[in-house]
Amino acid sequence: MSKLRVSELTKVFGSRPKHALELMKQGRSRAEILEATGQLLAVAEVDLEIEEGELFVIMGLSGSGKSTVIRMLNRLIEPTAGTVELDGEHIDELDPAALRSVRQRKLSMVFQHFALFPHRTVGENAAYGLKVQGVEEDERRTRALEALETVGLGDRVDAYPNELSGGMQQRVGLARGLATKADIMLMDEPFSALDPLIRRDMQDLLATLQSELSRTIVFITHDLNEAMRLGDRICVLKDGRVVQVGTGPEIIANPADDYVADFVSDVDRSRVLTAEQTMRAVRRTFSPGDKPRTVLDWLDEQEFSGAYVVDRDKRILGVARDDRLASGLRSGATSIADLLTQDYATARHDTPLADLAGMAANSTVPIAVTDDTGQLFGVVPRARLLAALSSEEVEVDA
Ligand SMILES: Nc1ncnc2c1ncn2[C@@H]1O[C@H](COP(=O)(O)OP(=O)(O)OP(=O)(O)O)[C@@H](O)[C@H]1O
Ligand SMILES: [Mg+2]
Repeated sequence: MSKLRVSELTKVFGSRPKHALELMKQGRSRAEILEATGQLLAVAEVDLEIEEGELFVIMGLSGSGKSTVIRMLNRLIEPTAGTVELDGEHIDELDPAALRSVRQRKLSMVFQHFALFPHRTVGENAAYGLKVQGVEEDERRTRALEALETVGLGDRVDAYPNELSGGMQQRVGLARGLATKADIMLMDEPFSALDPLIRRDMQDLLATLQSELSRTIVFITHDLNEAMRLGDRICVLKDGRVVQVGTGPEIIANPADDYVADFVSDVDRSRVLTAEQTMRAVRRTFSPGDKPRTVLDWLDEQEFSGAYVVDRDKRILGVARDDRLASGLRSGATSIADLLTQDYATARHDTPLADLAGMAANSTVPIAVTDDTGQLFGVVPRARLLAALSSEEVEVDA
C-alpha cells in the first residue's frame, strides 16, 4: 500500500466551481475554463502514489499548481474535489479535531521562508511543533536538541535566530520538522531563498537525513538540478495537470512532451543518465566449450567483431574476438576456451554515461553491464552511448 495516495485531486479558485469542473472533465485547459467561467483551475485531477521512505519531487513552472497540491495534502487548502489518503486514512473526510491530530502526528511542513520566532531561542524554535503536539517540556527539549544535532546545530540551542545565517535558520526549520517525528515532511521550495553553496549543503544534508531516517518527503522545487539530485521520483506539473511522473533519468531519457523536454534541456545528461537507461539486452553469449567456427559464423552474420563468453552463472570469462578465432581455427583449435581476450569494460547499472564515455574507446565489444554478483545482464554499444549523450531521442539498433 502506498504511504500517500492522491486521486483526482482538484482545486478551483472561485466561488462557482461547478461549471469549471464539468469543463475540466471534458479535458478543457485552464485558460479555456478561465475564459468560459471566470474560475481558476489551479490543480486538475492529480493522481499520485507516494511510497513510504520516498523523496518525491513536484516540479513545474511558476503557477503550475505545485504549492496548491502540497497544501491540499494537509488541507491548508481545501480540495474542490478528489481524495487524499494517508496510510489508508481519508484526510479529506476528517473533522477538524481529527485533522489537527493527523497534522501533528503525521504531517509536518517546511516552507520557503521559514518563519522562526525571533524572540525565542533556536532550541525553542525547534521544539515548537512538539509544543503544539502537547509534548512535555523535558522531552521537548531532548527531542529538539536531538534534531538540532542531526542538522549540525547542536551547539546553537541557546542562540537567537538573528544570530544565525540564512542557511542555519533554514536548518532550524528542518530540525523543527524532524523533531516532530512526523512520517511525512511536506517541503515547499525550502531551499530556494538560499545562496547556491549553502543550498548545495542543505541538499546534501537532506539526502543524508533521508537515507538515515527514511521519512517520506514531498519536496517542491523549480530547480531541475535540485530535483534530479534529490528526487527518487519526479512529478512534472503543467497548468495544474500532471504531465509526467518518473525517475530523473526516465524523464530525461523520455520526456512526455515538449514542455518537459524544454524543462530538461539544460540538464547535464551525461551525469543523470546511467547505463541502465542506455543498455540493451545481450543478443547472444557463448560458453568456453563452443567451437571457434560457430562463434565466427555468428559474428559474421551480425557484423560484430567480438562476443562475450560466460560461465554457467553468466559471469564473464572473456571475449571471443574474430581475429583470434580465425587464427585459432588455422592452428586447429577445437574450442574457444584458449582463445579468449580480456579487452572489455564493465559498468554497473547506475554508472553515469559520463564515466562510460571513456571506457568504450578501444574495445571490440560493447561495454558490459553487470549486477552485484558479476552476472552480465546488458550491454551498452558505442552507438547507443553516443546517441544518448547527444540528447535527441534516437532509436538505434546497435
Ligand atoms: N488563493 C488563491 N486564489 C486564487 N488563485 C490562486 C490562489 N492561490 C493560487 N492561485 C492560482 O493558482 C495557480 C497555481 O498556483 P500555485 O501557487 O499552486 O503555483 P506554484 O506552482 O506553486 O507556483 P510558484 O512556483 O510561483 O510558487 C496560479 O495560477 C495561482 O495564481
Ligand atoms: Mg509555489
